[in-house]
Amino acid sequence: MTNVKMLHTKALQARENAYAPYSGFKVGAAVLTQKGNIYVGANVENVSYPCGTCAEEAAIGAMIAAGEYEISDIVIVSGGKELIVPCGACLQRIFEFSNDNTNIHLADLTGVQKSCNIKELLPMAFYEDFTK
Ligand code: THU
Repeated sequence: MTNVKMLHTKALQARENAYAPYSGFKVGAAVLTQKGNIYVGANVENVSYPCGTCAEEAAIGAMIAAGEYEISDIVIVSGGKELIVPCGACLQRIFEFSNDNTNIHLADLTGVQKSCNIKELLPMAFYEDFTK
């Protein structure tokens, strides 16, 4: 049984490996899928600043590469003074692979401090059914 505490530990471990020499702000993310597997990511900055990628982006990319498309839970951990919410682009990325039961856990180094769903964080997501 995967619990939120274990997911936080995985996100924390990924955060340790973040490459953030420019902002000094390390972020880790851990996704638990509907199938029960965990994928992690960390932010990766670049001397060409706009080339940097977010922790959530990396974790979701790893999930997709493994052939999974449904997020059950995601923990995002940072070490700043304030609890962070995923950036706008990452909220849209999380939205793509979420449902009403997906839990988004916002965490500091000590543990999860707040849990929300995507409708709370991105009430008006971009959506269009391109299949019709
Ligand atoms: N960052 C993330 O990894 N996820 C977010 O949701 C917000 C910001 C990273 C990007 C950059 O490397 C650093 O945090 C400072 O913005």
